Amino acid sequence: MALLEMRRINKTFGQVKALDGIDLQLQTGEVLSLCGENGSGKSTLMKILSGVYPSGDYEGEIWLAGERIRARGLRDMEALGVVMIHQELTLVKQLSIQDNLFLGCEPHQHGVLNEARMYQRACQLLQRVHLDIDPDTLVADLGVGQQQLVEIAKALGKEARLLILDEPTAPLTEREAQLLLGLIGELRQQGVSCIFISHKLSEVKAISDLICVIRDGVHIATREARQLSSDDIVTLMVGREIRQLFPREPHAIGDVVLEVGPVTAWDRQRPGVQRVQNVSFSVREGEIVGIAGLVGSGRTELMECLFASYEGRYQCPLRLRGQALQFRDNRQALAQGIVMVPEDRKRHGIVPILGVGDNITLAALPTLRRHGLLCEASETVAINDGIRRLRVKTAAASLPISQLSGGNQQKAILARCLMLHPRILILDEPTRGIDVGAKYEIYKLIYELARQGIAILMVSSELPEVLGISDRVLVMHNGQLKGDLPNDGLTQEAIMGCALRQEEASHAG
Ligand SMILES: Nc1ncnc2c1ncn2[C@@H]1O[C@H](COP(=O)(O)OP(=O)(O)OP(=O)(O)O)[C@@H](O)[C@H]1O
Ligand SMILES: [Mg+2]
Repeated sequence: MALLEMRRINKTFGQVKALDGIDLQLQTGEVLSLCGENGSGKSTLMKILSGVYPSGDYEGEIWLAGERIRARGLRDMEALGVVMIHQELTLVKQLSIQDNLFLGCEPHQHGVLNEARMYQRACQLLQRVHLDIDPDTLVADLGVGQQQLVEIAKALGKEARLLILDEPTAPLTEREAQLLLGLIGELRQQGVSCIFISHKLSEVKAISDLICVIRDGVHIATREARQLSSDDIVTLMVGREIRQLFPREPHAIGDVVLEVGPVTAWDRQRPGVQRVQNVSFSVREGEIVGIAGLVGSGRTELMECLFASYEGRYQCPLRLRGQALQFRDNRQALAQGIVMVPEDRKRHGIVPILGVGDNITLAALPTLRRHGLLCEASETVAINDGIRRLRVKTAAASLPISQLSGGNQQKAILARCLMLHPRILILDEPTRGIDVGAKYEIYKLIYELARQGIAILMVSSELPEVLGISDRVLVMHNGQLKGDLPNDGLTQEAIMGCALRQEEASHAG
């Protein structure tokens, strides 16, 4: 008997048909990956399974171990051992790990909280996810990778037999992601099933027994993972073949437009520590410069200094077309045509309660105003143009942006930044959480911008992406610039080697 069966699931949001007759089956101890483009309905399907949308809020049937389930909410599904870890983490940062683990279900004994037992139980749960950390530690002091593990520990505490992970690896470093995938494998051995969502096909290939592809809310195929190559998955997802992910096109590179540095930035909390040390580089018109390095190497901080949005103390002298400048805040940077698309869209990006359109025009409003009045017609044109250009999947421009799928929110933010007509565009992890088809569109867009003479600085943790589209690569490590390498014949090994070799040399010396 199947552990899980979802039958003919339909779900609409107003006019939008998000899911259209989806079937899904899973056996005990199986790992199934759910693949599909941004907005194809992956998160929605999993929200139905996990009880976020109660029965009555969708059509179709859910069967668990042979029993028809009609959940009234999350709690009902959790009681049945179905636990979802969402695309955006939900831990309470101001509380300790232990408090988060038992939030709402503290073990009581004769009506009193049993502190000692809670502590012991917390230690056991952390052990199961291999997190060697005191349960009294505040969640705010953990890295994203560790927070992700706490989320899983919390799920295990609820006796999960089916764990749903919605893009758990998106914010993780390569190493953290590997640890997480290993953990999923271990849990599988222990009989815990898992439904996994990721836009990284290498991960999907590595851990799945089954792969289920959906497109526009319709089930396309469920196959054994070993029968499918990454290319097969992409073709099923997009409905057409993408031969070359990186549409590399020749483009002219002009004069030096920006000279940066030496940049030094100090840690926000520990003023003695330098996060960026004496980094200098320059960028030419129409040049695409990739910035590689491990998470924590100072890449984001460097870009924030350039855009005058770094929150700690820093020095960042600039020469823009030969003219020396120091920005006081990012409004001055914007006025000079420097625009940054931030990494963390929840913190710096979207205004959740505003519509998609308003989110897109937010920063450009001053330029859309005439005689002090907002010119509605030109605003509408601008919004539609942004939505079309980036293929933001939304039923209407007025829809609150929080109702868009994760990847489409990211695209809307990109649209907003382009509306500012940047001369220098800084992209921090621009394709995180974005599906392969849309990635391709974004790469094409980056080339188009470069051809218009816009200089592009792109921070990315995905080395294939850095190598695939950059003209030149800056390699950061421990706050220092370790290499400034032209991208001809450059390899991933050469980039990693550049960061690490010199570190060994400095240890030796
Ligand atoms: N609360 C909501 N209100 C209205 N529409 C919604 C809501 N949630 C999702 N949608 C719509 O349903 C569709 C499916 O969205 P969903 O979040 O399931 O996509 P996804 O496959 O998870 O995409 P991504 O890879 O970008 O996370 C999208 O068109 C989305 O805009
Ligand atoms: Mg999603």
